[in-house]
Amino acid sequence: MKHTVQITIDGVTTELPVLEATVGLDVVDVRSLIQQGLYTYDPGFLSTAACDSAITYIDGDAGILTYRGYPIEQLADQSEHLEVCYLLLHGELPSAEALGAFKQDIADRMPIDDHFARLFDGFTTESHPMSMLCAAVAGLAAQFHEGLDIYNSEHRLESAKQLIAKIPTLAAMSYRKSINASFVAPDPNLGYAENFLNMCFGETGQPPKVSKTLADALDKIFILHADHEQNASTSTVRIAGSTEANPYAAIAAGIAALWGPSHGGANEAVLDMLMEIGSIDQVSDYVARAKDKDDPFKLMGFGHRVYKNFDPRATVMQASCHAVLAEQGVDDEPLLAVAKALETIAREEAYFVDRRLYPNIDFYSGITLKAMGIPTPMYTALFALGRMPGWIAHWSEMLSAPFKIGRPRQLYLGPNKRDYVPISDR
Ligand code: CMC
Repeated sequence: MKHTVQITIDGVTTELPVLEATVGLDVVDVRSLIQQGLYTYDPGFLSTAACDSAITYIDGDAGILTYRGYPIEQLADQSEHLEVCYLLLHGELPSAEALGAFKQDIADRMPIDDHFARLFDGFTTESHPMSMLCAAVAGLAAQFHEGLDIYNSEHRLESAKQLIAKIPTLAAMSYRKSINASFVAPDPNLGYAENFLNMCFGETGQPPKVSKTLADALDKIFILHADHEQNASTSTVRIAGSTEANPYAAIAAGIAALWGPSHGGANEAVLDMLMEIGSIDQVSDYVARAKDKDDPFKLMGFGHRVYKNFDPRATVMQASCHAVLAEQGVDDEPLLAVAKALETIAREEAYFVDRRLYPNIDFYSGITLKAMGIPTPMYTALFALGRMPGWIAHWSEMLSAPFKIGRPRQLYLGPNKRDYVPISDR
């Protein structure tokens, strides 16, 4: 049955169609409302679907996340990141042959030209990796601009492969710059996560020495971060891309949006917070601060706009986190004790229970990455690395069908029209 919603404005009733979702909430189509002389008002997009999409589905109440219909738990357990990249881009899982060809395509595109690498000379060792990553990805737009037709699906797929291939190399270069070390080139014989770890911690001319457990855990982190429907950075990529901007520039905008501590920057902020709290006896003071409306302090790694139940990514991450901690022999870390105490309090205290504030993925990924020996400022760069296929899949999906430039309206609350006052009269 076709549903509609009726809205009455000054006695005139208008029917608004309801668009049916495959699964999840249906959507009231308010596009004709402007003809009645009204806008809708929804700061932060709490109730607004900004597009339709067939990539990722989240049921925040049930704690469900699927990529192209496949549950995240199954993908994290049985798949590998490049297979998930293929799935997000093409909509279907690859055959063994297609996956092999895709992996080869990625390996071929991982190297960065020497002249482009000189971009990093403009940064100091104190520069934040996210700043370097943002600049480097935006810089790729200069390399891939002439002749790029964003309405050609082959060109879009080539952009996707270039970005998925180059982001680990650029992220590793950002790290090497921060420790004032020479760059290590990608090794076509290594897996995706393995390659990234070797480019960060290996040495040029030396055989790679990457722990399989750590590479597998990192690959899982990438899978868990690969897409999350219309989050802030993906929406940024879509809006920037809706102006028909160069895709590398649109993705750089997404990287900038990801950096904030309310979004991808939370994994770094979790570690900063755990270190600031320092010991279990300080935990109750910080929890009291988090509950205090006059204090801007929030418990980083808790809460989510969409998940009002346990974040399914956090469940997978929690298990992986324990495996890494055991492998690295850091089970007795004082920070881990602080983390466990916070987790317990947040699960028991009314403030967190009533607001349905659960630990999110960043809570466990921060702790895992620390145990893996990854420096804190790199955490969000790793999130960007993982999220790349999602950003580019959304950009490509938008361009593959008719779309409009992203251009919201506003509720104007400023002064009404008034006359200019010359400075001598003010
Ligand atoms: N600590 C203490 N109180 C919190 C927290 C927190 N981490 N998160 C939300 N609240 C409170 C908030 O003050 C509000 O209280 P009240 O109803 O009394 O005003 C209530 O819970 C609802 O929160 P909200 O701010 O309206 O929720 P939101 O959907 O706008 O924000 C969020 C979601 C993720 C930005 C927020 O929970 C937050 O800042 N969390 C900490 C940062 C973090 O961990 N971010 C990573 C998110 S997961 C990675 C990703 O997907 O990007």
